[in-house]
Amino acid sequence: MSVSVSPTTATARLLPGKPVAEKILTEVAEQVAALRAAGVTPALATVLVGDDDASAGYIRIKQRQAAELGFASPHVHLPASASQQDLHRVLADFNADAGVHGVLVQHPIPGHLDYDRALDVLDPDKDVDGMHPVNMGRLALGLPGPLPCTPAGIEALLAYHGVPVSGREVVILGRGATLGRPLAMLLAQKRPTANAAVTVVHTGVADWPRYTRRAEVLVAAAGVPGIVRPEHVRPGAVVVGGGVRYEGRRLLPDVDESCAEVAGAITPRVGGVGPTTVAMLFRNAVRAAQRAVGQG
Ligand SMILES: NC(=O)c1ccc[n+]([C@@H]2O[C@H](COP(=O)([O-])OP(=O)(O)OC[C@H]3O[C@@H](n4cnc5c(N)ncnc54)[C@H](OP(=O)(O)O)[C@@H]3O)[C@@H](O)[C@H]2O)c1
Repeated sequence: MSVSVSPTTATARLLPGKPVAEKILTEVAEQVAALRAAGVTPALATVLVGDDDASAGYIRIKQRQAAELGFASPHVHLPASASQQDLHRVLADFNADAGVHGVLVQHPIPGHLDYDRALDVLDPDKDVDGMHPVNMGRLALGLPGPLPCTPAGIEALLAYHGVPVSGREVVILGRGATLGRPLAMLLAQKRPTANAAVTVVHTGVADWPRYTRRAEVLVAAAGVPGIVRPEHVRPGAVVVGGGVRYEGRRLLPDVDESCAEVAGAITPRVGGVGPTTVAMLFRNAVRAAQRAVGQG
């Protein structure tokens, strides 16, 4: 079903991420099974630094999911006192191991370590987050490679729910490296599920509501709780909540819940962009394995 911009509806249609993620993960499981049948066990390595409970929990969930999908998942746990060199050594070992196809470093990492420097050490072809500078360059040039997970998940979510962006005005609030900037590059590409007229607004655009109010699709990517309010939304528009801030375990989204009274369709407060982000991680991992054996 396609969603068009129409006059105000009382409550927006929800655009959940879970069915999108399930569809992607079903495809991933089939691709993993095909690789295993050909004698290749795709391996997604995970690296945890320190003893943060939440990070350890996220890694456990991803490892469990990796196992369910048929991946091998070698794991290294470094102590909180690990040095930058220790982390680089682990990544260099995984780079050199032809049996490891993807590597995930759980972030945040302890404050004395530099995540970006570590990312530079990782083989770009094993970067399942799609955040390595080489992969950002590939995205900018439209070359194949791992895509940043959250932007790729948003494109998949819109396509799954029949929200066309081709030829339409998409406004992204935020130009951060994780979300706003790569999403702008992705949705402006010449492909059927992209091809949008993309505008990016940020703190340098004082009157950013002028742009968001005309958006047919509005993506919040600022990380400022409640920054998007109904008066910033064009009636009937599609609103995607990407930006969130965590206060402890409390999730504070960019999009105020009252936007559902103005929007035509909207991602739910919980279970919107998050599940599709995780699914894209596994899609990047299986594609890395396919490429490594000449299937990609
Ligand atoms: N749901 C998920 O799975 C998921 C995954 C990844 C990231 N995220 C979330 O996505 C958000 C963005 O992350 P990021 O790393 O890409 O971005 P970021 O580096 O945190 O940058 C935030 C962007 O928002 C803009 N901004 C902040 N306050 C603003 C304001 N008051 N008015 C206008 N613009 C404002 C900033 O403008 P300037 O550039 O001018 O400073 C910047 O471009 C974060 O909340 C993050 O938690 C969610």
